[in-house]
Amino acid sequence: MGKTAKLIVDGRTYELPIVVGREGEMALDISRLHKDTGLITLDPGYGNTGSCESSISYMNGDEGILRYRGIPIEQLAEHSTFVETAYLLINGDLPTAEELNEFSLMLNNHSLIHEEMRNFFEHFPRGAHPMNILASMVNAMRALYPEIPEESEKEDIDKTLARLLSKLRTMAAMSYRISQGQKVVYPSYLFSYCANFLNMMFDTPVRPYMIDEDFVRALNLFWVLHADHEQNCSTSAVRLVGSAQVNLYAAISAGISALWGPLHGGANQAVVEMFQVIHESGGDPAPFVARAKDKKDPFLLMGFGHSVYKNYDPRGRIMKKMCDKLLQKKNINDPLLDIAKKLEEVALKDSFFIDNRLYPNVDFYSGILLRTIGIPLNMFTVMFAIGRLPGWISQWKESREDPKGKLHRPRQVYLGHDKRDYVPVNERKKGNK
Ligand code: SDX
Repeated sequence: MGKTAKLIVDGRTYELPIVVGREGEMALDISRLHKDTGLITLDPGYGNTGSCESSISYMNGDEGILRYRGIPIEQLAEHSTFVETAYLLINGDLPTAEELNEFSLMLNNHSLIHEEMRNFFEHFPRGAHPMNILASMVNAMRALYPEIPEESEKEDIDKTLARLLSKLRTMAAMSYRISQGQKVVYPSYLFSYCANFLNMMFDTPVRPYMIDEDFVRALNLFWVLHADHEQNCSTSAVRLVGSAQVNLYAAISAGISALWGPLHGGANQAVVEMFQVIHESGGDPAPFVARAKDKKDPFLLMGFGHSVYKNYDPRGRIMKKMCDKLLQKKNINDPLLDIAKKLEEVALKDSFFIDNRLYPNVDFYSGILLRTIGIPLNMFTVMFAIGRLPGWISQWKESREDPKGKLHRPRQVYLGHDKRDYVPVNERKKGNK
């Protein structure tokens, strides 16, 4: 018998099993709690609750560790590409040269989107946020592409996953071009995944886009760093919606919608907007740090703090280094990078941030990198979504293959009215609620 915990309720003792993870982390298994004791747990925001057992990513929030399928993010950032990392997350191991070549070919073969989807773009309300368009477009894919039936063969599943991975990037670039009233640029087999995206975003009939290998490397790094992150809000949305056995596209569309929120993936756009306000108000971050500490002020220091990391987000550290390197190499002096560094320095010396263990997260420097590559501000969260897609897909696949998988249906504690009778409308008096 493994480790257990004792729970004493009304004089009765219950033994709850303790599950021990690969890295020694321990979880109280409460899967029989309600059946055995009639009790449920209460954990608003699920900060203390494991929703599943997973083998995809591992995070240690206290030590600032992140690994994909056991490989430290620092090593993937240095040696891998986004396509290789996507393969690793979805299939569980790094691909051989042949497997990588086959996977890249499959991505290339599925990079075009159905021409009928262009009409969808054309009739979307002008000025819609790109995340709004992307979530709708991905959902609409179910109307054009088959879902993965339960008894699908591996190659059918792989093809569907590669189709989504490749088409999301094409749709993102297309939505931007159309929003700018520009001619759509199609993907080309001549370019890698990342270079294709940049070309689809920036190539024009009058000035062919020159692929800059530094920008391609920076984009690969950006997407590797965003590829997966345990059971974050948007991944949990994908798993929860997927648990109803709805098609993959609908589950991924739910993840895109969750990521759009400013407390989650939308933070990368909010961080740069915050830097711009600091820049326009003279560049002194101190007043903004003061506001972030003021409980009466709803202002948050965007890009700071994390639900799990109570240490520097390892991805933020790598992103900051890449910003320094890229801007130096391109001889670009971005005042917002100086503001970011000054803000970080002021905050990390302040007891409020130290005591609350608030450090820069992945979003704090990521926007500076995207600006340098030339990505427009309102596309920042779309960039996060493209990066996170392999993670959503691998987590969706893992939950679908889980023999213990079931419909997600959390419980609640009820605090509403006592039982009361219906009152006919002519007998109701204002205020007697
Ligand atoms: C992402 O989960 C993931 O893995 C997400 C992500 C991923 O890869 O999927 O990493 C991507 O979403 C990163 C986070 C991006 N969001 C932001 O940068 C927005 C700003 N950050 C905050 O909204 C906040 O830090 C959260 C939402 C990220 C975390 O909130 P928590 O869990 O409440 O943080 P906490 O418990 O550590 O906060 C301790 C205190 C609280 O005050 P009290 O209620 O105790 O009085 O610090 C406060 C918080 O209100 N606080 C902040 C703050 N973050 C936390 N105060 C000012 N500015 C902040 N940024």
